[in-house]
Amino acid sequence: MDISAVRAAIPVTKNLIYMNTGWSGPSPTRVTRRITDQLTYEVERGPATLDALPRSRAVHEELAKAVGGLLNAPEDTIALTQSTTHGLLIVVNGLDWSPGDEIVTCSLEHPSVMLPSLLLQRSHGVRVRVAEISPNDDKATILAKMEAEMSERTRLVFVSHIQFSCGLRFPAQELAEMAHRRGGYLLLDAAQCAGQIAIDVRGWDVDFYSIPGHKWLMGPDGTGALYIRKELLPAVTPRYPAHGAVEEYDVKTGALKLNESNPRKFRMSTTSTALEAGMAEAIAFQREIGPDVIEARGLALAATLRDGLYSIPGVAITSPDGGETSTALVTFALAGREPREVVELLWARGIAARQVATPPAVRLCTAFFNTEEEIAQVCAVLGEIAR
Ligand SMILES: Cc1ncc(COP(=O)(O)O)c(C=O)c1O
Repeated sequence: MDISAVRAAIPVTKNLIYMNTGWSGPSPTRVTRRITDQLTYEVERGPATLDALPRSRAVHEELAKAVGGLLNAPEDTIALTQSTTHGLLIVVNGLDWSPGDEIVTCSLEHPSVMLPSLLLQRSHGVRVRVAEISPNDDKATILAKMEAEMSERTRLVFVSHIQFSCGLRFPAQELAEMAHRRGGYLLLDAAQCAGQIAIDVRGWDVDFYSIPGHKWLMGPDGTGALYIRKELLPAVTPRYPAHGAVEEYDVKTGALKLNESNPRKFRMSTTSTALEAGMAEAIAFQREIGPDVIEARGLALAATLRDGLYSIPGVAITSPDGGETSTALVTFALAGREPREVVELLWARGIAARQVATPPAVRLCTAFFNTEEEIAQVCAVLGEIAR
């Protein structure tokens, strides 16, 4: 990877040290150009003409294909969404639930996992079982704790593939196997994954995988995609049906022919072609670098960052300390300082970070466009704050 060329393509790198990609990633110039080109076309040539409509359809197809390539899935298993949460809700609210069915999740979860689960518990008598996971748990411990919460009533294992608050990576393939053995499904919240790690939904045998366009992929806000295993498409009912939900219907008889196996059934009526073009372009940019290269560089930078943090008095790292559960999300607490205060002090020095709550910490994301020099600078500033 030519890091100078990569950074020249991403304007934010000229202005600050951006280490908050896990919240929203900075777009490369070609992504914003693609968005503005589409908007300009719509303004100048009309958004819904006989020329513009096939142009929009081509963008939708391009994006489904790009996401399929990124996840290792056929494009006819990809629903285009507006966020990770949107995709998760399609699955959680689209499955048929019976009282006593169980969802197995974990104590570190993001609200986008926990809240829909708890609301189903209230509305449908579903039981939510929560494995107590610690950021320091290794893979075997995670699996043992998750399995201890599973039963013959397990309908859905529903966790983040990478935890947002401590960067802990969950094993996808083993969790899929555990869920399937009990007749359940695996739904992974992959908000922190697309654009951070190499993904293989078919190799891992997961059932549902929801990604955003705007975080590590560095596309625009308001974009995302959901993989649904082909055989499971009919099992998920669109709860907000728009015209794509049916093949045909008869107003007089009320007869409906549902669009059972086409992910278009989840599509809201009108979406932004410009934003979808931006997400497609963001994926193209990253695939030219290569997901394996991106993953390896993020991990190497995270290791460098941890090394730097260890040498600062009062710093306690709260994310996994290397190994197969660690990722490019590094979190730490600083003795005597609230995480929010540290985030503000870093920002005053041109460093974008965020605070997280479980456990309370500052989070720094080491994306592939960050550099060793930036990390040294961050550690120097933290050293000053610690003194
Ligand atoms: C693990 C996790 N899930 C869900 C979300 C929400 O993502 P989105 O805004 O794409 O719905 C986030 C955002 O930070 C996240 O980290």
